[in-house]
Amino acid sequence: MTSKRVVIVGASRGIGQALVENFAKREGFEVVALSRNLAKMQADFVNLPAVKCFEFDLENDVRTQAEKIFSTIGEIDFLINNAGFLVNKPFQEISSQELQKSYQINLFGVFETVQAVISYLNPTISHIVNISSMGGFQGSMKFAGLSAYSTSKAALCSFTELFSEEYKASSIAMNCLCLGSVQTEMLAEAFPGYQAPLNTTQISEYISDFTINAHKYMKGKIIPLSLTNP
Ligand SMILES: NC(=O)c1ccc[n+]([C@@H]2O[C@H](COP(=O)([O-])OP(=O)(O)OC[C@H]3O[C@@H](n4cnc5c(N)ncnc54)[C@H](OP(=O)(O)O)[C@@H]3O)[C@@H](O)[C@H]2O)c1
Repeated sequence: MTSKRVVIVGASRGIGQALVENFAKREGFEVVALSRNLAKMQADFVNLPAVKCFEFDLENDVRTQAEKIFSTIGEIDFLINNAGFLVNKPFQEISSQELQKSYQINLFGVFETVQAVISYLNPTISHIVNISSMGGFQGSMKFAGLSAYSTSKAALCSFTELFSEEYKASSIAMNCLCLGSVQTEMLAEAFPGYQAPLNTTQISEYISDFTINAHKYMKGKIIPLSLTNP
């Protein structure tokens, strides 16, 4: 079986960590794990020979950092933009720094990572998956306190459509998954005591299958993944 290479941004904990573990168990995948916390990834993935880890910070000269990493790893089949930052605060209390950071990690960093990856993608077919949130999905139930987070995730949905229009004649597919709640440290920190209906193992199985297969059927789509209505 030909080996496929998947790059996962935000791989040190939560959904990203589960994604690395999921892909690493599948036959024929090389996994490139990116986050700021290199030491934790190297320790957690020490027994997974298919995994290579790199330090990567979405708040610092993203395009240059990404190009440096991508130029050393070889052709990329899949990119999952999974890193995220959530601030849960009343609208009036959100600082300029928190607003900037939300957009930097959830949108601008993704934008520049994608700019960097284009020339390293498999020229035959590739799939970029953006991880957004139900909070950023138009018409979904909204939650007070998430104005910085959910607007930045909505912008990520919009980016998916705009990129897809510009690259519609190319071999690059991009889709966006809007996740409902998943039990992770991010969720527990933002909503202490709340119990999500899904864990990281469950959602990572879905996201991995989607990444490997969905681009054969769709491009530029924003998919809500939620067990609640709306
Ligand atoms: N959990 C949920 O209920 C839920 C619901 C909807 C959507 N989502 C989305 O799903 C994704 C994963 O969420 P999660 O709950 O697993 O979050 P998490 O536990 O907080 O993990 C976030 C990951 O992003 C990385 N990250 C954060 N800032 C970064 C930066 N500046 N540069 C590079 N990497 C950075 C973190 O690594 P380092 O700290 O090591 O850099 C970490 O690996 C996020 O995009 C989130 O918005 C989650």
